Amino acid sequence: MSELDLILFGPPGAGKGTQADRLRGDFQLPFISTGDMLRTNVKEGTDLGRKAQEYMDAGELVPDDVIVAMVADRLQQGDAQDGFILDGFPRTIEQAEALEKQLSELGRRVTAALLIDVPDEEVIRRLAGRRVCVKSGHNYHVEFDPPKHEGVCDQDGSRLIQRDDDQPEVIRNRLRVYHEKTAPLIEHYDEQGLMRRIDGTRPPAEVHDHIRAVIATMRLEENV
Ligand code: AP5
Repeated sequence: MSELDLILFGPPGAGKGTQADRLRGDFQLPFISTGDMLRTNVKEGTDLGRKAQEYMDAGELVPDDVIVAMVADRLQQGDAQDGFILDGFPRTIEQAEALEKQLSELGRRVTAALLIDVPDEEVIRRLAGRRVCVKSGHNYHVEFDPPKHEGVCDQDGSRLIQRDDDQPEVIRNRLRVYHEKTAPLIEHYDEQGLMRRIDGTRPPAEVHDHIRAVIATMRLEENV
């Protein structure tokens, strides 16, 4: 059976992290989020975290060489040998090419790129109302997905906070960067016949069902 090497991407606030929480238990594949890896490094005060923080706070992309090295290292770990779901990487054509090179050296290739598609106005509404668990990063929304008790995570009782990069001017910059640097990946993967579009404006449970159905179909096709 071939590995399922999947990419999950989309604009900021499309619901990638929300779906990650739901998808984690569905498939025997590691879920690798570059945003989460960077935030862990910032929290732990590593060299990488110090380098990344100013870019993240401004809503800019962390330089390709830093990210490519971080992901290359992660993909060499044992749990990624049978496939993976990458969230937030690649985000530039250069990153996509670096990933393709690394995989081809292993005789592998990207199986599919899943785009969670959401328009800009919805991104702004979602990020402005997002609240995140300080301990494990579970996502909530004050209006669309509120916790049972205001300011408290349903899953582990930790405090909910607003992310530093969810300030209005940083959100606008993240969207600008997405359209300029990441959206060209849509054509890149379209040309390779690897693009799968998911309507991210549907409620989280429907988006989850759609992604699961797409992955399950691919898994069947890989087994044929
Ligand atoms: P990263 O953490 O990857 O941020 P992002 O891509 O901007 O995505 P978000 O985490 O903001 O949103 P999401 O899609 O996960 O949405 P969520 O599920 O939370 O990256 C952060 C930074 O790290 C970047 O800006 C960059 O600096 C750096 N970085 C990371 N990777 C990099 C790379 N490869 N190269 C260079 N730099 C990199 O949902 C948002 C809100 O909407 C929540 O409140 C949620 O409850 C709600 N919601 C979710 N789904 C729905 C729905 N279906 N209906 C209604 N509400 C919903």
